[in-house]
Amino acid sequence: MKTKVLFVCLGNICRSPAAEAVLVHFLNLKKLENNFVVDSAGTGGWHVGRNADERMQAAALKRGIHITSKARQIALSDFDEFDFILTMDDSNLADVKALSQELGKPFKSKIKALMSFANKTDITEVPDPYYGGSSGFDEVLDLLEDAINGLLDHIKD
Ligand code: 4NP
Repeated sequence: MKTKVLFVCLGNICRSPAAEAVLVHFLNLKKLENNFVVDSAGTGGWHVGRNADERMQAAALKRGIHITSKARQIALSDFDEFDFILTMDDSNLADVKALSQELGKPFKSKIKALMSFANKTDITEVPDPYYGGSSGFDEVLDLLEDAINGLLDHIKD
């Protein structure tokens, strides 16, 4: 059985595609990629079909991480499909929980703030870097790497 992880942000062009790529990168390093399905989605649909923001791609490439996914919007079927649905900020978390309630099933245990797995910081949200300067993208990657390492430790246990 593969572990299926979906990362969710607002636009699916900055934070969640970066989270997807960071997890895939770590899994490749650990030779665990065949044990997982990894994807990302946005709560909004404005950027559907687009590549990730070029500033996010460039910041990730400096770390050897390739962001290749195309934006898509979260679908109701994702709640059945994935084992972990991990949101970037409190607003995403509320939106995703509200969406899951449309299905009338108890999906709450799958839906978590990604930063709840972080070990090196008390920051609880991955800030949206879209309207900020380039250092915001590096900060996002630092937060994602911390939380995704914690996520892998959690899954291993
Ligand atoms: P993301 O960032 O949620 O990390 O993909 C955003 C990208 C675009 C917009 C908002 C957030 N936007 O409003 O277009």
